[in-house]
Amino acid sequence: MARTLPSGMPGDTSAAASVRVTLSSLARMAAEGKPFACLTCYDATTARWLARGGVHVLLVGDTAAEMVLGLGRTIDMPLEVLIALTAGVKRGAPDVVVMGDMPFMSYHASESDAIRNAGRFLTEGMADIVKLEADASFAPLVEKMTRAGIPVCGHVGSKPQQAALTSGYASAGRTASEARRVVDDAVALERAGAKLLLVEAVPAEVTLAILDATTVPLIGIGAGTDCHGQVLVLQDLVGMTERPPRFAEPVASLGRSFEDAAREWVGRVGTRRIGGQSYSMRAGEAEKLAAEGFPRVRQGLVDDASAAPARSVSIPRSGARDQRST
Ligand code: KIV
Repeated sequence: MARTLPSGMPGDTSAAASVRVTLSSLARMAAEGKPFACLTCYDATTARWLARGGVHVLLVGDTAAEMVLGLGRTIDMPLEVLIALTAGVKRGAPDVVVMGDMPFMSYHASESDAIRNAGRFLTEGMADIVKLEADASFAPLVEKMTRAGIPVCGHVGSKPQQAALTSGYASAGRTASEARRVVDDAVALERAGAKLLLVEAVPAEVTLAILDATTVPLIGIGAGTDCHGQVLVLQDLVGMTERPPRFAEPVASLGRSFEDAAREWVGRVGTRRIGGQSYSMRAGEAEKLAAEGFPRVRQGLVDDASAAPARSVSIPRSGARDQRST
């Protein structure tokens, strides 16, 4: 059966031509003081709509562990799944920067594994850049990745993959010495070649200090308004999570919309009002089938002949071609 091509997917020409976002254009925006927008995304269809909305960067985060797989911790995110999701997002939004998030243990055990795994995000995942939660001790690894041609975003500040050490997801940089450490991490990662930095859950002063000490675009989440770019977990933004973090202000109530749509569908199914168009048999074929002794088919023909309007789920006898397939 032929499926209609979802508009905006490769091969579709209906979507308005968009300007391609690259790491260079992000750097340009940062230099010009124009903030750029980043959201997490885990699938092609959503990516297409977010790109149409003008989002510049899509982060295929290890938060997919929670948002997609229903796991309780981001450290359980499987590498293979995240690479596959990254490729889906890039297919849906080929003209935005797609960032693959290296999951727990995909870059910690050995440098060669780390570089190979990062490379897979670029080749199989079609990512434009990989992100790693890192402190200054990861600088030599970032340097090697960069030498291999892999653009890196260094994630500093609060690092959810360290939750077992910090007894949960914690903010960072709330004392001067902690703040200094976060800034030093950012500086070390930039020196090692990081093309972007991301800082999570720090006071605004720490963000300002990072901006003073570094030159690459800085993306923030829960890090105040001064960053060059801002990121949120999509489900927090669109009202699909029960308890979004304090820094995420929902701008929609899609959770409720899904609930309402589900309730409506349940009602329609229950009352046989499913809408849309059914497939039709060619002229005279239903009669032949009925003649072979199927009582329900025969009754359907009787109903159609005697009752108008027909039941909405009955098979139309017009012979008209279905719109989507032959
Ligand atoms: O995995 C993720 O979604 C992230 C963001 C919360 C920054 O790292």
